[in-house]
Amino acid sequence: MRPGGPLEGSVPISGAKNSVLKLMAATTLAEGGYVLHNVPRILDVDWMGDLLTSMGMVVTPAGEGSLHIDHRPDLRPEAPYELVERMRASIVVMGPLLARYGRARVAMPGGDDFGPRPIDMHLRALEDLGATFEVAHGYIEARADHLVGARLLLEFPSVGATENALMAAVLAKGTTVIDNAAREPEIADLAAFLTRMGAQIEGAGSPTITIEGVDELNPVEHTVIPDRIEAATFLAAVGIAGGEVTLQGARADHMDMLIQKLGEMGMRISPDTDGIWAFAPRRLRSADVSTLPYPGLATDYKPLLVALLATADGVGIVTENLFSGRFRYIDELVRMGADIRTEGHHAVVRGRPLLSGAPVRAPDIRAGAALVVAALKAEGETEVFDAHHIDRGYDRFVDKLRSLGADVSSA
Ligand code: UD1
Repeated sequence: MRPGGPLEGSVPISGAKNSVLKLMAATTLAEGGYVLHNVPRILDVDWMGDLLTSMGMVVTPAGEGSLHIDHRPDLRPEAPYELVERMRASIVVMGPLLARYGRARVAMPGGDDFGPRPIDMHLRALEDLGATFEVAHGYIEARADHLVGARLLLEFPSVGATENALMAAVLAKGTTVIDNAAREPEIADLAAFLTRMGAQIEGAGSPTITIEGVDELNPVEHTVIPDRIEAATFLAAVGIAGGEVTLQGARADHMDMLIQKLGEMGMRISPDTDGIWAFAPRRLRSADVSTLPYPGLATDYKPLLVALLATADGVGIVTENLFSGRFRYIDELVRMGADIRTEGHHAVVRGRPLLSGAPVRAPDIRAGAALVVAALKAEGETEVFDAHHIDRGYDRFVDKLRSLGADVSSA
């Protein structure tokens, strides 16, 4: 990766990783054949496919960007350790498996680089719907003869807990109300998918979701929403390098807060018939940023924003409100000459006109992408090791960046 001139052109935005994984989990709710469109070609989708396959389902690519999933009889409601350990999002199979099969055996997820990520809220919500749990040999054994609708009040609007509760409640007896639900666009996409399957859901995308349980659901065909985090990554790239790009298929209405923040920093961004149009001058101004649950600034945008601030004009304070310890990539940016100090949940970023290319290591998906976009303004060559993390969440990242004129290649 070498620095270059401004980025120019148009790039297609793939389907949302954080949506498709949950839609795939939701196919455990009813037998039959499903078709998903706009599926990103990323490792996490392969891994979720492996998980469904290990349960006895058949997952096959069906043409450009589509996936066929066949939920056959005799499914084994079990998520093995090797797969859950690889991808924590696997935990979202617990709710639908319990609802459909009355039991689920799911490996306990471990901690990761974002610090401990407990699942207490997932379990509490399912318990309130009538499930019981036993933990033995590293597995959670969940059982429920009948799930029964209830009022669930989440302590925090957790995305995963909302999804698990939603996928359990659609087949529970009676009414479930999820209060303080997560409002992310991916939740609304999951609800749209479930509604198409025959579920009765109101309020998805708002803090209160009401679900009327039904007896049975049916398999469907569905198109995944565009990935707002991938779109944000290309906005960060153009913000760092300067230039003018169109993000084909991206949804500006899923990214209001980010677009407002980048506007404050000097970018011009507007919805376009084709997606999102964005222009950035050679150098942006700094701003303070703070992550919050949707519609706040997503925690997944943060490494990208830190990379932007590292090359912007001025000082920006970044506050993380969702995850502890999501600052590891900062050491790597500092190795590239960035001036960043961290203190608890805060980072103070003093922008520099030019960073310095260096060998760095990608600690996770988004941070890996942030190191790559930072390299657009780093003198000399930057080599990003462990770039396989990036492939977990980005569909042809290097090709797409190259198509905008970036000097980047993969080994
Ligand atoms: C999802 C996204 C992730 C994003 C995050 C927040 C996927 C695959 N991942 O993760 O990219 O960064 O939303 O937008 O969709 N918590 C608990 N107990 C629980 C559940 C969560 O304490 O039972 C805490 C977590 O530790 C964290 C916070 O709540 O501090 C938010 O987590 P959550 O919204 O659940 O994130 P995920 O669903 O894991």
